[in-house]
Amino acid sequence: MVKSIIVDTDPSPDDAVAFLMALGSPDEIELLAITTVGGNVPLHHTTRNALKALELVGRQADVPVYAGAAGPMVRTLETAEYVHGETGFEGYDLPEPVATASDGFAPDKIVDLVMSRPEKTVTLCCLAPLTNIALAMAREPRLAARLEGIVLMGGARSEGGNVTPAAEYNIYVDPEAAKKVFECGAPIVMIPLDCTHTALTQKPRLDKLRAMGGPHMAAFYHLLEWNKRFDEKAWGMDGGPLHDPTVTAYLLKPELFKGRLVNVEISCDELTRGMTVVDWHSVTNRPKNALVLTEIDADGYFDLVIERLYAARKD
Ligand code: RIB
Ligand code: CA
Repeated sequence: MVKSIIVDTDPSPDDAVAFLMALGSPDEIELLAITTVGGNVPLHHTTRNALKALELVGRQADVPVYAGAAGPMVRTLETAEYVHGETGFEGYDLPEPVATASDGFAPDKIVDLVMSRPEKTVTLCCLAPLTNIALAMAREPRLAARLEGIVLMGGARSEGGNVTPAAEYNIYVDPEAAKKVFECGAPIVMIPLDCTHTALTQKPRLDKLRAMGGPHMAAFYHLLEWNKRFDEKAWGMDGGPLHDPTVTAYLLKPELFKGRLVNVEISCDELTRGMTVVDWHSVTNRPKNALVLTEIDADGYFDLVIERLYAARKD
């Protein structure tokens, strides 16, 4: 059964690998649209990076890109150039995109795409702050019930945060949006830092990616090589966490992951703003609203990433 998905994203390289993997998996995934949001870098950069990534593999005509919210619903956007550089795509000079974003505001296009298709057939793949998703749900209250599900990279169980001691970036930036999404009732798969911090772009893995050959694999070698520097220095890691492609990998090979269906609540308080409060031992009677995947077969994951990223290119 081919999964129809919409990818909501704030491209830095890990985001781009995630949606290109989807394009490299036509027998399993139909990518209906890419929607962009302000996050790692401002919206004009995230939108341009999505277009650059598509043009790099010759797929710009295959999937529309819709720009969405420039920032959170009620807070000021906090970008992450300190991690991803000014443009979000440092490390390799990709040409300015010829293609432009398609007409339409991303939340409206999410509603149109989901509501125009049979119920329970569209999955939202969320790789960024959840502003577009929450706005779409506000515009169309029936949206959540119509979805097949939501698979998102974000949050943390016991790993702690990467922006504050309590919060992971995607949830931290717009906690009000995240709260609305986690309370929406749609089936949620959450892939937290506990998982992605064990899936690192170590040199042998990046070398294997580049060895596949082709201009796009070389480009992503350099983009990912640049992008891991902050995490290596800040965290003392051997490589950087390849966060967002875990979402696509879950759709393709869920057996690579282990986790638990539990309750997850979002804190909007100042000290713990953006914290995903994960009731791992079900000590409350709160509804079990999310499958939280804390473990991954990292070698199997990187083999899949390399295989499907390579297949994304249209000659
Ligand atoms: O905290 C990791 C998340 O923040 C990933 O989605 C990465 O792309 C950045 O947006
Ligand atoms: Ca992201």
